[in-house]
Amino acid sequence: MNRAQVREDMPSDSSLHEKIAAYLEFQEELGVEGFYRRRAGSVPRTRTRSPRDSRPLSAGAVEGAAGKGSPVEPPLAPTSLPIPASSVAQSLSLFEAPAPKRGPETLDEIRTDLGDCQRCKLAAGRKHIVFGQGSPKAQLVFVGEGPGADEDEQGLPFVGRAGQLLNRMIQLVGMKREEVYICNVVKCRPPGNRPPEKDEVDACSPFLFRQIEAIRPKLVCCLGAPAMRTVLGITEGISKVRGQFRDYGVAKAFVTFHPAYILRNPRDEKILREDFESIRRFLSK
Ligand code: URA
Repeated sequence: MNRAQVREDMPSDSSLHEKIAAYLEFQEELGVEGFYRRRAGSVPRTRTRSPRDSRPLSAGAVEGAAGKGSPVEPPLAPTSLPIPASSVAQSLSLFEAPAPKRGPETLDEIRTDLGDCQRCKLAAGRKHIVFGQGSPKAQLVFVGEGPGADEDEQGLPFVGRAGQLLNRMIQLVGMKREEVYICNVVKCRPPGNRPPEKDEVDACSPFLFRQIEAIRPKLVCCLGAPAMRTVLGITEGISKVRGQFRDYGVAKAFVTFHPAYILRNPRDEKILREDFESIRRFLSK
C-alpha cells in the first residue's frame, strides 16, 4: 500500500487523531520515543526493522500518517495499515517496541511544556511568565521566591532592586550574571508580592525541579525561606539553616537570606556577603 492509499484509508475522525497525538505525547513524557505499527491482530513480524522504523515518531508525524494534510511523512513502513477508527484502545495496541530512554530534557523543552501555563490561580494576574534566565550549563543556580512587579513586567527574574543587589553579590564572588542561572519557586507574580501559596508551589515546583535537573549545577542557592522549603523540603527556620551546605542529590544546596530581606534589613548585608564568600570558596574547590 502506498502512502496515498494510507491517507485515503485513514479514518476522517479528527478526534481519533487528537487522541493518538495525546497518547504519543504522554509516552514521550515517559521517555518512549519511537513506535512502529503492525497490522491489528497479526502476529508480530520478526524481520529486521528498517532504519525508517526506528526513527522517532512525533505527534506531527502521526498527523502526516493520518492524512491531515501535514507534509510530514510517516516514519513507518508503507506496508503499515491505517489505525482503525472504531476503537482507541484497539489503535493503542498497534504501538509497541519502545525506543531506549532519551537523556535529560533541555530547558527549552521544559519551557515548551510549561506553555501558556494555567495550572494555578497566579496565571490570571500575570503579565509574563518568568521562567528563568542564565546559562543552561551553570555551576550555580539561584532560586528565589517568585517574580515581583518588575520581573512580571519584563519576564525576567531578579531585575528589580533585589535583583540589583543579587547582581552585586554575584560580581563580588568573581562571577558574571550570565554564568549562573536564576529562577524562582513560582513563575508568575503573586498578587501584592505575597508569598506563594501551597497549591501554587505544588503546581509550579515540578518545573523548578526539572530546570535544576536539566542544568545539573554543582550548587543550588536558595534565596530565602520559601526557596529553602521547596528545594530542601524542610520546615526549619531559615536562621538555623542559613550559611550551611546541605546534600542535594549529587549536588549541594546552600541557604542564604533573600536580597529583598537585606534591602529591608541592611545591617545583615554583612551576613549575605559572608555567605557569598562561602559560595565562592565552595565553587573554587
Ligand atoms: N524576588 C524573587 O523572589 N524573585 C524575583 O525574581 C524577584 C524578586
